[in-house]
Amino acid sequence: MAESMKGLHRSHRCAELSNKNIGETVTVMGWVQKSRNKGGIIFVDLRDRSGLLQIIFEDGDIGAEGFAKAEKLRSEFVVAIVGKVEARRGAVNPNLITGDIEIRANDIRVLSEANTPPFPIDEDSKTKEELRLKYRYLDLRRPDLQRNLILRSKVANLTRQFLVEEGFLEIETPMLTKSTPEGARDYLVPSRVHPGNFYALPQSPQLFKQLLMCSGYDRYFQIAKCFRDEDLRADRQPEFTQIDMELSFVDVDDVIDVNERLLKKMFKESIGIDIELPIQRMTWAEAMERFGSDKPDIRFGMELKNVSDIVKNSGFGVFTGAIENGGSVRGINAEGQGTMARKKIDALIDYAKDFGGKGLAYLSINEDGSYKSSFAKFMTEEELDLLVKALSGKPGDLLFFAADEDEVVFDVLGNLRLELARNLDLLSKDDYKFLWVTEFPLLEYSKEDKRYYAKHHPFTSPMDEDLHLLDTDPGKVRAKAYDIVLNGTEIGGGSVRIHQTDVQEKMFGVLGFTKDEAHERFGFLLDAFSYGVPPHAGLAYGLDRLIMLMAKEDSIRDVIAFPKVKDASCLMTEAPGKVDDTQLTELAIDVVVEEGK
Ligand code: AMO
Ligand code: AMP
Repeated sequence: MAESMKGLHRSHRCAELSNKNIGETVTVMGWVQKSRNKGGIIFVDLRDRSGLLQIIFEDGDIGAEGFAKAEKLRSEFVVAIVGKVEARRGAVNPNLITGDIEIRANDIRVLSEANTPPFPIDEDSKTKEELRLKYRYLDLRRPDLQRNLILRSKVANLTRQFLVEEGFLEIETPMLTKSTPEGARDYLVPSRVHPGNFYALPQSPQLFKQLLMCSGYDRYFQIAKCFRDEDLRADRQPEFTQIDMELSFVDVDDVIDVNERLLKKMFKESIGIDIELPIQRMTWAEAMERFGSDKPDIRFGMELKNVSDIVKNSGFGVFTGAIENGGSVRGINAEGQGTMARKKIDALIDYAKDFGGKGLAYLSINEDGSYKSSFAKFMTEEELDLLVKALSGKPGDLLFFAADEDEVVFDVLGNLRLELARNLDLLSKDDYKFLWVTEFPLLEYSKEDKRYYAKHHPFTSPMDEDLHLLDTDPGKVRAKAYDIVLNGTEIGGGSVRIHQTDVQEKMFGVLGFTKDEAHERFGFLLDAFSYGVPPHAGLAYGLDRLIMLMAKEDSIRDVIAFPKVKDASCLMTEAPGKVDDTQLTELAIDVVVEEGK
């Protein structure tokens, strides 16, 4: 029988008690972690979100009726205990905050009984994630997830504190809106009142925050839910949270400055990490050239080197062919890996093929200075020596080369570099290496669609010095866009926006919008700009990704209370689900499911 709370008041959370409270009578409430009956004396570990506390029940303290209740306790029962704090009589537990005290119970109420949970409520659960997600409310009782969500709350709070002190206003923007321009697929919501019409859930508050700048709010922020219907990965969810901001009368350096100070406070006051300012900056072109990635993990070296000049006249068709087709040959040095087994090398070559590479050429340097290589027979001794020199190869090293279009070479070697670092255990989660990547290309050309797309979004400003190229060579235009990268993960991104109508129109032109199309989609923004717009810029962090890295987790699912799985479903609520026909009729929706789906 579940008892009520009548007349009881919790005095402390479990792990708020310490040996300073010895002698006090306290009331604690929580879940039974574990109960051991030693005959005449019962030990219970009581758990709440603060931690564990040992409770002792003895007939003499609590009376026969209370003792009988204690005997019936099972894991996950919810109880209230009144008792006296004492120094532990048995062995002190140094792993617990409350390890040197115990509560001698003199009253107990069973507030709720509990079925046996489908998995133990433990730190570092070995239970399959699917089962944990089905019973997420139980999973969330586990200390590691509780720590993550507490950290998340703390970081959100520190963000609010900092931004408010810096003069930012927290303003909400709508969830039911029109399609926004971040480039993923939209989630749509049908309108009952306007049959056949749909709202789109926002992919970000981008348009609204720019309008707020037009309206004079000057500095805006929001911790905003965003929705994107894209393929999920470990660091992607269909709904996720941004720390979103926009500032008026600023340029790139102003946005970077305020965000560096925000990051410094966040990391110091939540996880005690000191970030040295200023954070290193690297242009997009340099990031690609050195790391083959626009979000380089700079916790380790193994940088790419362009060796095209050395091999362009060699007898190796794979290399010369790539160069003749306008591509390049680049390499990396896996230091000390010269004795890597053939099987492992083959596995890396297969891995490279996942990124569009046709293969990898390799060369290992023996201890006596001679080479073993998949392509030596096509090269002169001199060419091989130059290759080794270009990659600073020493005896015992293993060099990999990729030849292809630049884009493919970067992707292959950029990812190979990461795979090697993972295999060689070069990546420590205790190491926090931040990097600003700046001067992104404004546009990206799609060979499939034979047109340009905005790399960030259509409101990103070109760099002043590249403005003239917008008409003649749009692919070369660099943008006032920046990403903040932490340990190879893009945790945030933003840009200075276009605030000049003529530049915006030109940009829409390059993106293939007619004037009418641009007005249909973004007319309200263009109109707003015609009434006086300040220069403005902003940035948004992926809060989930940020917390994932702070909490040293591998997946953002571990820092989201109720996440979705790979196919975008929720295993607990079983969303998405079917709805009543009457609901569909009201919405004027007819569902047609193709056979076999
Ligand atoms: P962007 O599209 O780069 O920029 O998004 C900003 C940050 O949001 C995070 N993020 C995600 N996190 C989890 N799941 C996802 N599906 C997901 N998609 C993005 C990333 C990313 O860096 N409006 C602009 C910002 C601006 O220009 O001010 C925007 O949304 O960490
Ligand atoms: P092949 O002539 O295709 O047998 O390739 C000879 C060697 O070159 C093999 O070791 C391949 O793995 C390697 N190779 C093939 N394509 C490429 C490429 N695009 N870049 C680098 N090496 C390659």
